Amino acid sequence: MKDIDWIKRYGLEEDTLPGHVGIIMDGNGRWARNRHMPRTFGHKKGAEVVRDIVLSSSKFGVKALTIFAFSTENWRRPKDEVDTIMTLLSQYLRNEIAALNENDVVFRVIGDRSGLSKMLLQLIEESEELTRNNTGLRFNVAINYGSQAEILNAAFALAKDYKEGKTALDREAFETRLYTSGLPMVDFLIRTSGELRISNFLLYQIAYAELYFTDAYWPDFNTERYVEALKDYSHRNRRFGGV
Ligand code: IPE
Ligand code: IPE
Ligand code: MG
Repeated sequence: MKDIDWIKRYGLEEDTLPGHVGIIMDGNGRWARNRHMPRTFGHKKGAEVVRDIVLSSSKFGVKALTIFAFSTENWRRPKDEVDTIMTLLSQYLRNEIAALNENDVVFRVIGDRSGLSKMLLQLIEESEELTRNNTGLRFNVAINYGSQAEILNAAFALAKDYKEGKTALDREAFETRLYTSGLPMVDFLIRTSGELRISNFLLYQIAYAELYFTDAYWPDFNTERYVEALKDYSHRNRRFGGV
């Protein structure tokens, strides 16, 4: 829940914070390799960081936070790494959902659910159901998510419904067919690990987002670094094509 004292303690100003933050959490593997540890160790550490950033976002009064946890392309990785990430997602939900609920967070997964295990899917559905009537931070986790597929599927679904006379053909009809239906556009996109690319994340939704890249690997990201990013955002001059 929004905590004005917290916002002040970190030197932030309430009215200069972004409404919707997107995060490409990258660098778990390199972080682990630097420590002569398996890549999976980095994913474990990375999952712990998520807890802090979600809580901070909630206290800062950020309205929506969407994090990239697993892309449709990440299936190309070795099976044991994929298995570890999927297990961590389940563990995260089991361990955190009660606290998220207490903090009034609305939890949702975006992405293609058909590729997920029955167990993970059930946990996701239970978590979404438990938190759906909350009114605080809207916390979205992108799992088996790819933005081009999202856009194409929305376009195909719209074409089909339009042909059947079920919908108008306009922006709203298209946007309600995206996974992010009902969420505001992304204001601020953060990517860790020094890579300067978007990697198929929220291509439509970041049209006018401010971009922030940090060299820190995701396991080294924390509330202090998040605050640094948010302070940077607060000085941006967003023009949306105007003057
Ligand atoms: C991000 O860290 C987590 C996922 C993509 C699941 P990486 O695993 O991509 O770490 P690097 O980029 O190889 O260091
Ligand atoms: C993007 O990171 C996907 C997630 C953070 C889940 P990747 O590590 O998969 O992206 P690339 O391969 O470096 O572009
Ligand atoms: Mg990576």
